[in-house]
Amino acid sequence: MTESITIIDNRTGESLEIPIANGGVDAADWRKLLPGIWFHDPGLATTSGAESAITELDGENGILRYRGYPIEQLAEKSTFLEVSYLLLNGELPNQQQSDEWVNEITHHTYLHDKFRRKMYDSYHYDAHPMGLLCSNVAGLSTFYPDSKDIDDPANRMKQAVRLIAKMPTLATSAYRHSVGQPFVFPDNTLDYASNFLRMMFELGNPYEVDPAFQRAMEVLLILHADHEQNCSTTTARVVGSSHTDPYTAMSAACAALYGPRHGGANEAVLNMLDSIGSYENVEPFIEGVKAGNERLMGFGHRVYKNYDPRARIIKEAAHDVFAVTGTNPLLDIALKLEEAALSDEYFISRKLYPNVDFYSGLIYESMGFPRNMFTVLFAIGRMPGWLSHWNEMLDQDSRIARPRQLYIGEPERDYIAMGDR
Ligand code: SDX
Repeated sequence: MTESITIIDNRTGESLEIPIANGGVDAADWRKLLPGIWFHDPGLATTSGAESAITELDGENGILRYRGYPIEQLAEKSTFLEVSYLLLNGELPNQQQSDEWVNEITHHTYLHDKFRRKMYDSYHYDAHPMGLLCSNVAGLSTFYPDSKDIDDPANRMKQAVRLIAKMPTLATSAYRHSVGQPFVFPDNTLDYASNFLRMMFELGNPYEVDPAFQRAMEVLLILHADHEQNCSTTTARVVGSSHTDPYTAMSAACAALYGPRHGGANEAVLNMLDSIGSYENVEPFIEGVKAGNERLMGFGHRVYKNYDPRARIIKEAAHDVFAVTGTNPLLDIALKLEEAALSDEYFISRKLYPNVDFYSGLIYESMGFPRNMFTVLFAIGRMPGWLSHWNEMLDQDSRIARPRQLYIGEPERDYIAMGDR
């Protein structure tokens, strides 16, 4: 049996054998046989848009690996900055590379002071932090015009350092603006996660970082760091393929993440648990989902047709946080919801399992993050993933993304004068 497919055009009887390589068949081949005929796949559910060496997902078996390393091992043994280095460079750093990398990130956390003052003051106090993040990431491009030189790999890495380093500062500034608190400047003596927590929560007294919170933050950022061609990463690659600068490409990725079907789901899960309100309402809610009146937010996934491995790790991390904060009262509803869904034919037949967003919000809320910050936390974690794919796409000298369409509109017709309409 040869690793290939044969396509036959029944209109002409012509056929073409196309090899199967790396799990795919090359569209350039069938264009020879079928000029002007497009494979129609609007949700891109069965289409590969890239060759990538960064992250591997096995949806049937619930497997996630960054550059070959299982997510379970990285969550247990690594740090977010080490994982960021791994995603961008392809290998774990040695001690010297790690020290240089951490030093670089640590010393690029500040925002230009004019940016900090002018950009945030122009927003309403109750602006959603994701709205601020999307526009402020794009706004950074105006302070770094050198970022347009996307052909220089060293320059691309310099911008990647700036973006990874500044995300916590952008995020916490958005939060502090929304609650009318003064901004907290980065403290270069702290590690990345501790610095982020301090910039979020310090108010009046020195903020003591609880080790359980610091480790939970590291794990949550690692788990969100990349996920192959998800909606926002595909956006980063598509927008980046026009050769715009990385800040505007990453702001587009932030915008894609904002949606409740994607990164906005963690905020939607907590709102859903609130609306269910009690143990007794779980069954009626499940019936509403099966009737198509609701979506079970935090459930389902385009790739995972098994338990999302990240959801399992987050569920374990939750216990460490709850040991400090006390259990989130919504946890019982979430556990009952999961139990009811996993034993119901509607969800089993559709292979709907908890995804990364189902439990993450419970931890964030228990740590003191407001719900409108949950997707911002997701964006901080995903930034190295977006940058790695953007960098890989440019390294591959990819063509500009420009798909075709199936036209279903009106045939040619003549203009109608106003009096005749
Ligand atoms: C993330 O892609 C990634 O990798 C994303 C992500 C990442 O790390 O980047 O993993 C992060 O975005 C996780 C997903 C977070 N979103 C949610 O939790 C929102 C709720 N989930 C869904 O909206 C949905 O499951 C999606 C968007 C995640 C996936 O949608 P698909 O693959 O397009 O699946 P579908 O909508 O075609 O659903 C297939 C069937 C449908 O039923 P039928 O029409 O066949 O009867 O399953 C049903 C859907 O109605 N279904 C759900 C459901 N998700 C799918 N029914 C109830 N509740 C749900 N959550």
